Amino acid sequence: MTPGVFERVRDALLTPRPQAKVFGARQVARDWRLGRLSFAPACAMPDKPAWPDEPELLAPTQMPRRGRGSEHGRLAHWHALAHIEFVAMDLALDMAGRFGAEMGKEFVGDWLSVAADEAMHFALLSRKLERLGSCYGALPAHGNLWEAAADTAHDVAARLAIVPMVLEARGLDVTPGMIEKVRRSGDENGARILSRILDDEIRHVGFGTKHFLKIASNREIPPKTLCRNWCGNILQDN
Ligand SMILES: [Fe+2]
Ligand SMILES: [Fe+2]
Repeated sequence: MTPGVFERVRDALLTPRPQAKVFGARQVARDWRLGRLSFAPACAMPDKPAWPDEPELLAPTQMPRRGRGSEHGRLAHWHALAHIEFVAMDLALDMAGRFGAEMGKEFVGDWLSVAADEAMHFALLSRKLERLGSCYGALPAHGNLWEAAADTAHDVAARLAIVPMVLEARGLDVTPGMIEKVRRSGDENGARILSRILDDEIRHVGFGTKHFLKIASNREIPPKTLCRNWCGNILQDN
């Protein structure tokens, strides 16, 4: 019997070890692309994915100060980025698994390809940390990154509005400046990693917008109104 895509997505979400989760995310994306998985049965996604014991997760107010410009500060910066990509991998898997059955095959394919990208971003940043003599998990990390997923688990439009269209889009705004800064510091390898990530993230925001517009049209609600329902305050803040 052909294995079901949603069960495989749930398995990847429930894999705690980072390397194994990277492998699981890339494998399910690949198997789906090659037509090796069936679109049924749907299955419930976990409220929270499984994560490793380390990094220790802290509230943003408890995070140690980075000491800008210092070696530790630079390490903390790469570690924070690795954590964002680790969570992004689960966010993309959860998008495909939680909303895929109602949204259809194209949606599943798009978000599984995003999950595979995020897995690659995380792998690149883990390798970067190792090159710097550290590893993912060596420092504490931001503990609130799953909140956006929990807050929007009830509605795919809310999830698309908040995660790809606000949070990931914000990343697009800050990354070019970050690339310049890293390059100026002489870290060409770091700048190349960030450029690669930026190219992929542009595509992710594009998927978010594409599916959000489709939902607005199906619900016969103007996209601006639908967007304002979910991210009006956030957009006004900027
Ligand atoms: Fe990413
Ligand atoms: Fe992304």
